[in-house]
Amino acid sequence: MKNIVLLASGSGSNAENIIKYFRKKKISHNFHIITNKKDAFVLERAKNLNVSAEVITKKQNDEGVLLDRITELKPDLIVLAGYLLLFPAEIVALYPNKIVNIHPALLPKFGGKGMYGGFVHDAVVANKETETGITIHFVSEHYDEGAVIFQAKTPVSETDTALEVANKVHELEYEHFPKVIEKLLND
Ligand code: GRF
Repeated sequence: MKNIVLLASGSGSNAENIIKYFRKKKISHNFHIITNKKDAFVLERAKNLNVSAEVITKKQNDEGVLLDRITELKPDLIVLAGYLLLFPAEIVALYPNKIVNIHPALLPKFGGKGMYGGFVHDAVVANKETETGITIHFVSEHYDEGAVIFQAKTPVSETDTALEVANKVHELEYEHFPKVIEKLLND
């Protein structure tokens, strides 16, 4: 049984999908959810899934609260699943290759500060890309720059809207993110 800390800032559909994946396979890990937004829907999901959850704001991150909590939780893996804040560098330094993020595009394209959620898919459409995808990578002290663990692609047609692109990308996320996490836990 491993300790997995999931961080999400909004909806948390990836966090839910990851928890359900392991439950379906009857693999019991300890999950704990942290969000930086007190009204994030991921808190609702946590309640429904019967998973512990808490809010740690950006201000608290700056005060070292996140570091203290992570230290207490003794995570085997820290998973950023739609977490929009830059992850504190002092935590990154303490957990080499134990913090993973998912980015909804094919890095190094469409990454960096401000490139999240709908902004990424808008840019993919505006740029007339013929494909997009997901990148799962280790977290470094810079946005979207850590070593790539896994990528998967999906085609983008000329008529696709940003919302349609987002849906395709979400499908890839749901399919692959739990499997990559499972593999990392077993390595
Ligand atoms: C995902 O597309 C993820 O790649 C990105 O933020 C989105 C989060 O979606 N970083 P959800 O909160 O898991 O539904």
